[in-house]
Amino acid sequence: MKKIILSTICGLLLASNCGLIIAQPKIVKENVAFADKQLTYSLEQVKAATTDKLNNPRTIKDGKLSMAPSWEWTSGFYPGILWYMYEYTNNPKWLQEARHFTKLTESQQFVTNTHDMGFKMYCGYGNGYRLTGDTAYQRVLIQSANTLITRYNPTVGLIRSWDFNKDRWQYPVIIDNMMNLELLFWATKATGDSTYYHIAYNHAKKTIENHFRADNSSFHVVDYDTISGQSRLKQTWQGYADGSAWARGQGWGLYGYTLCYRATGDKSFLEQAKKIEKYIFSHPNMPKDLVPYWDFNDPDIPNTPRDASAAAIYASALYELSTYVSKTEAKDYLKKADKIIESLSSPAYRSPLNENFGFLLLHSTGAKPFKSEVDEPLVYADYYFLEALLRKNSFAAKR
Ligand code: GLY
Repeated sequence: MKKIILSTICGLLLASNCGLIIAQPKIVKENVAFADKQLTYSLEQVKAATTDKLNNPRTIKDGKLSMAPSWEWTSGFYPGILWYMYEYTNNPKWLQEARHFTKLTESQQFVTNTHDMGFKMYCGYGNGYRLTGDTAYQRVLIQSANTLITRYNPTVGLIRSWDFNKDRWQYPVIIDNMMNLELLFWATKATGDSTYYHIAYNHAKKTIENHFRADNSSFHVVDYDTISGQSRLKQTWQGYADGSAWARGQGWGLYGYTLCYRATGDKSFLEQAKKIEKYIFSHPNMPKDLVPYWDFNDPDIPNTPRDASAAAIYASALYELSTYVSKTEAKDYLKKADKIIESLSSPAYRSPLNENFGFLLLHSTGAKPFKSEVDEPLVYADYYFLEALLRKNSFAAKR
């Protein structure tokens, strides 16, 4: 009898990187079992489509799997997905694949022409280092952080996002850039050099000053004057209009300020994350299933595409944010995150098994104004969906 009780208790408890937690919720278990099969199928599809230059999956275009080169901002997500599968399952198969796809992005550590270093390197190498402690991964990450800070201008007090459109913008900074700060906070912890931390901190502070409107929605692009350091243009690139709220951009802000609070303990970052949450979830155009339309202000709502990637980012951010707030707020955030996970796990958003080239989620929108990646799977939707499920296990179950 004792043995039965003991094994039942052991069955209910799982050891994880975050400590001892309650057994995986059913929805997590079911999604992981699905992902295990769907990503096995994905690997076959991806390997068949890989060429010298195109080595990671991004979306589906014209009915075909669309692969991307490692210089694209999305190249870290597939390695990251494979690391999450390894974390969930402990299966050496996923470890081997994660190592393989991570290595394919190695050259990117030296590329100075982009701010997307966090997306490209931290999702793959960052998760790889966290899960294996491999010092070779640590070296790549430190180099990546050194490369990223070459894009910081102390007069402006921000990291420059983009180098194109030079006739229009002097020093464009996009809300997405908040996501790349995690790499810098990590680098200070890894090296003891506070330079990275200060750059990330300054960037986050100045973004609060200039990127947000009175209602706490954010602009996509803010352009700065390189001599005065003042903002000079507030525009969009992927949203409906300069004054609209692009759904994924609101997610980058929510997730970005949550991670900034984790890294610094600065209350203004926590307050900003909470304000963004309020904007997103009290918006009259937010659908009941909590998967937003691609832009909150598209006049064609409800006859316009959703963005499942934005929903996945919101859910992942909310699971973490719920750990920093009062019990009442946490309950509310967890309810919303759980609702998103429930919606994304349903046939309305999740791909049938062995279809859609192995992507997990359907109905994301990349860049609607350019008619690009509209209502398609996107690799980063899958990445943040898996991350949200992992966080549901660890953060939520600890409460
Ligand atoms: N960082 C680019 C995007 O969110 O589409």
